[in-house]
Amino acid sequence: MPIRITSHTKPAERIPLVFFLFSGDDIAAHSLFHFLDRGEQEYVRKVKKDFDFKGKEVRVLFMPDTARKVLCVPLGKKEDFSAIKAGLATRIAVQAARKEKIKKFAFWVSTTGGARETRDFYEVVASNAVMANFEFIKYKTFPDEKPTFVEEIQAIWRVPNADIQEGLRRGVIVGEETNTCRELSNTPGGDMTPQALATHAEKALRPLGVKVNVLSEGKMNSLGMGGVLGVARGSDEPPRFIVMEYMKGAKKEKPVVLVGKGVTFDTGGLNLKPSASIYEMHMDMSGGAAVIHAMAAAARLKLKKNIVGLVPAVENMPSGSSYRPGDVLKTMSGKTIEVLDTDAEGRVILADALTYAKKYNPSLVVDVATLTGAAVIALGQRYSALFTTEKKLEDAFRKFGDETGDLVWPLPLSADYEEDVRGTFGDVANSGKTRYGGAINGAVFLWQFAKDYPWVHLDIAPRMTSIEGEYLAKGAAGAPVRLLARMLEEI
Ligand code: BES
Ligand code: ZN
Ligand code: ZN
Repeated sequence: MPIRITSHTKPAERIPLVFFLFSGDDIAAHSLFHFLDRGEQEYVRKVKKDFDFKGKEVRVLFMPDTARKVLCVPLGKKEDFSAIKAGLATRIAVQAARKEKIKKFAFWVSTTGGARETRDFYEVVASNAVMANFEFIKYKTFPDEKPTFVEEIQAIWRVPNADIQEGLRRGVIVGEETNTCRELSNTPGGDMTPQALATHAEKALRPLGVKVNVLSEGKMNSLGMGGVLGVARGSDEPPRFIVMEYMKGAKKEKPVVLVGKGVTFDTGGLNLKPSASIYEMHMDMSGGAAVIHAMAAAARLKLKKNIVGLVPAVENMPSGSSYRPGDVLKTMSGKTIEVLDTDAEGRVILADALTYAKKYNPSLVVDVATLTGAAVIALGQRYSALFTTEKKLEDAFRKFGDETGDLVWPLPLSADYEEDVRGTFGDVANSGKTRYGGAINGAVFLWQFAKDYPWVHLDIAPRMTSIEGEYLAKGAAGAPVRLLARMLEEI
């Protein structure tokens, strides 16, 4: 479902037009209006008085003489407008076009020197258009009717602007990588095994010039990765540790390391999850998928940066060979983990990945994980939880989130909490001692393995799936590929 965004000074003959309109705007004053033919203009003038653009509803105008469609998409109040609102309006437009079976439409790009006529703004517009054009249909046969997807969007402007064009181009790349991340997360656990995830990373990244090295069980054994190996023990699927290197920055520049949780299915292990909680746990590799596709975005954007991606991939299963509550695992760092709950498996595999990251002498390590249900309880489903050791990283990541739509909100990371994850028979316990502050306990646990570099932890459990009213297909939301791509561009 790729979308081409093409650039023109006038729309193709009879192509459907999308009018984005602020509350109170006059349709007849819209910059695309004069591209309508005389009869169409008359028709629009006749019906426009019935319009009120306060809601989110798209109005579809059907030109009686020419059968051309004009979609009027409300932008809300001009004073309240933002990049995020523009992104949402773009999704609404694309979804409305798809519903109308429109495969091509044109919209107007203003180039009059306004504050929003920037590359970043149009990157958001394009990425959201692409995200709204996605549906997880790999497993559907559509005996009746296949869904329609938009194939081309024409950007119409008086004077094509190179910066905006570049924004649109980048937005398409970031949107496509977000969608491939969603596709990966949505893939059922039976098909998305640790090996399948590794194979996908190789296929997606090698052609882009990213080195991909997949560590086998034997290699992990010799590295002493008792965390990854411990969690993997209950599954028939062998674990994989995916190492991706994109070194296009200066030789001496320290890399940014991205670490993603790659639990391809999380049953909870012997601390088996109840049915309702198991349901979406094939998406427990969403952090890993986001890391793989943020790297793909970086490579396609040809960033001159050194970037490393690490994804420990395991399946968390109950069986006769599962790791048990009470087991003590020796991690690559040398520290031991006392397993209090086999369902807190993400932090156990990430401990080894955070240690492995040290070998790159990183300038920054960012881990991305569907780590805790508690983060969802704390924040709802709109913001991922952000934990970091440095205030300026907190500010930077909140800004990347606000600019791209991959929202993040800080929770405390303080040494006071370390007491709560101290082990009795091992160094660190993989679960807190009370039922409070679960997201913080997860973060503080990871911190014990991330003390040698600047570090950001994103608990993306809140943003694992799309929600009602986001104008996105059901299923994986693709967070935080957009944030990571922006971060890699700017940091
Ligand atoms: N993968 C889950 C967290 C999760 C829950 C992600 C819901 C997305 C949606 C994680 O491995 C887990 O089970 N965490 C436990 C930790 C607890 C046992 C300390 C949790 O959150 O309950
Ligand atoms: Zn779990
Ligand atoms: Zn999990």
